[in-house]
Amino acid sequence: MFDNLPRERIAFLPTPLHRLKNLSESIGVDELWIKRDDQTGISFGGNKTRKLEFVVGDAIANKCDTLVTVGGLQSNHCRQTAAVAAVTGMRCILLLAGEEPEEYTGNLLLDKMLGAEIKFFPDDAPLMLNQRLDEVMDTLIDFGLTPYAIPAGAAMPIGVVPYAVAMEELNTQLKEMQFFPERIIVAVGTGGTQAGLLLGAHMLDLDIEIVGITVLSPKEEVEERVQDLIERTIQKYELDSFKPKIIIDDNFMGKGYAILDDAVVSAIEMFAKMDGIFLDPVYTGKAGLALIRMALAGDIASDSPTLFYHTGGEPALFTYSELGQK
Ligand SMILES: Cc1ncc(COP(=O)(O)O)c(C=O)c1O
Repeated sequence: MFDNLPRERIAFLPTPLHRLKNLSESIGVDELWIKRDDQTGISFGGNKTRKLEFVVGDAIANKCDTLVTVGGLQSNHCRQTAAVAAVTGMRCILLLAGEEPEEYTGNLLLDKMLGAEIKFFPDDAPLMLNQRLDEVMDTLIDFGLTPYAIPAGAAMPIGVVPYAVAMEELNTQLKEMQFFPERIIVAVGTGGTQAGLLLGAHMLDLDIEIVGITVLSPKEEVEERVQDLIERTIQKYELDSFKPKIIIDDNFMGKGYAILDDAVVSAIEMFAKMDGIFLDPVYTGKAGLALIRMALAGDIASDSPTLFYHTGGEPALFTYSELGQK
């Protein structure tokens, strides 16, 4: 699938797929498995490494020398962009929403260690920074660089393709292990990961519900974004058109993006204490809470095989002192 596109092989693939033995018993779902894209390899991994393999492949094919992207101070996407730039010998410029903190922690600390050049925008929200990319690109070109712009979360057709390819990888593993989930639960930010999984499931003719747990924006907004990403990808790569079944649940956003409440803390601790898995506080913690609540409420039947898709993000754990304090 998409073998003709330029790609830098950076991630450690396939990522593991395994049972969540203890959690499965505890929440009463007989067949509960996890796909470990928190283990894509370099620099603490995560879902963006898959996307960036194709993005950087395209950047190199276009003779670019600098990756420019945007995000929040604790952006996992920015950290993985900095890592991919480091291993491919490119320069990395990060535009981060927020004030420069006195002390660098978590992903921000790692960005610095990976050699990224960072510019802070105290008055902007992360997604607003997409609008600044053009301006910064012009300045970099004036300086004689050949930059490549990556929008927040690599939410662009070339960032959707890798998750269609990931679905193919997953499908091979599911067949080998004879595990056939009825649904996949995955955290959603910009929507590219879910869009790619939906595209992949369609191309492989798989009947699996892909349930996106949004942490950033309300349901209708995310549905539109995922639909738009799929349509743009179909157009760009001249694929057959189809109508995706986009399922988004916005009941687990809590008090807002990156705000940790007691329920999310409990979900993170449950995954850790039961099966030794660290979820992250911003994305997978909320998706993990969704899985637990749905199972306990009977919305996932005990005989309904379910896959939890771990998308990474653990470095942000070290910026939340309230974790592990109880
Ligand atoms: C750990 C983690 N999970 C999930 C997501 C959401 O992925 P997407 O933006 O493709 O929806 C992100 C995005 O930054 C992330 O860092």
